[in-house]
Amino acid sequence: MAIGNGKDDGRPTWIVTGGAGFIGSNFVHKVRRENRARVVTFDLLTYAGNRDNLLSLEGDPDHLFVRGDIRDSPAVSALLSEIRPTGLFHFAAESHVDRSIENPGEFVSTNVTGTFVLLDAALRYWEREGRGKGFRFLHVSTDEVYGSLSPSDPPFTERTPYAPNSPYAASKAASDHLVRAYFHTYGLPVVTTNCSNNYGPWQFPEKLIPTVILSALEGRPIPLYGDGENIRDWIFVEDHCDGVLAAFDRGREGETYAIGAGNPKTNRALIETLCKILDRLASRTGRSARELVTAVPDRPGHDRRYEIDAARSRTELGWTPAHSFEEALEKTVRWYLANRSWWEALRARYDGSRQGIGRKQGEGK
Ligand SMILES: NC(=O)c1ccc[n+]([C@@H]2O[C@H](COP(=O)([O-])OP(=O)(O)OC[C@H]3O[C@@H](n4cnc5c(N)ncnc54)[C@H](O)[C@@H]3O)[C@@H](O)[C@H]2O)c1
Repeated sequence: MAIGNGKDDGRPTWIVTGGAGFIGSNFVHKVRRENRARVVTFDLLTYAGNRDNLLSLEGDPDHLFVRGDIRDSPAVSALLSEIRPTGLFHFAAESHVDRSIENPGEFVSTNVTGTFVLLDAALRYWEREGRGKGFRFLHVSTDEVYGSLSPSDPPFTERTPYAPNSPYAASKAASDHLVRAYFHTYGLPVVTTNCSNNYGPWQFPEKLIPTVILSALEGRPIPLYGDGENIRDWIFVEDHCDGVLAAFDRGREGETYAIGAGNPKTNRALIETLCKILDRLASRTGRSARELVTAVPDRPGHDRRYEIDAARSRTELGWTPAHSFEEALEKTVRWYLANRSWWEALRARYDGSRQGIGRKQGEGK
């Protein structure tokens, strides 16, 4: 397993789990674009992982793709021993709330057991040689661990008690607790980020924003859960990736950092904004995409409101989101218009299968 033409020229090498998924691939592209480190992407390529997300990195001697399972302890240990990274960024997860309602066992297995296996292997590597290299374990988590806010509650902060409501959120909460325990018990240098709903390029078409875009382009109903008044706080994926890097560089060990861009929107308002952008950029019929919006039964246990107060990340990490909501949303729509072949290939692969996409509306994670 060689990276960087096999030479050790002292440059950092990072392992990125889940780097073929939505956020992970955006992160890998960013790190390689900015040449911050060599990257080994470690990904099982579940339905959500896609080699095409990393296509433009083929031929980059400082990027290596390794197919593997974070629950496979010997494989993870061998990877750490061979690559000898200075950082491990843990994005790999089962990430879709609706799927966690249908099949919670997979979420416990990947998100809880998988994180445990990684932590345990990382601890042995760190005790052996990672300590001397300044190794850090960056755990990527979600604001869903905090549960649901009522209209009058203040936004989530790092001090908000955990109250996960879906099997997805509970499995991520459990993984956060294990990460914390490995710091407090063994001293493993970890930092955790809890981010709000992401949008941007390479997001799997089952999630809300790609579902709206693709449904509008194909003239299919745009599903709206329940009364459409559930609130999510949206962040452009590149801003999230910047926050993860800031937490890795400047976060205090054992700490958690809430990451959000301050864009709380009801699902109804988000879909209306998207429809306006789509009408401007892609309308072929002269009719508004809004006419396609169709109410569907609500998700069981649907959290009402998420909102992040990212003050600690802004002050301690010196991080601020660089993108405005409307501009980044338009950039995202333009990306889906320009990359039809990317999502048509996914459609061809999964439509009609058990994992058929676009059957349901997701909410970003
Ligand atoms: N999408 C969001 O809005 C959001 C927000 C906050 C936090 N997060 C967190 O960010 C991370 C990435 O989310 P995403 O939306 O990019 O997810 P995703 O579902 O698009 O990608 C997950 C990736 O993990 C890989 N994977 C799954 N199981 C694996 C295993 N056992 N071993 C190795 N690889 C495996 C998949 O193949 C895929 O490439 C997750 O941990 C998620 O909880 C997501």
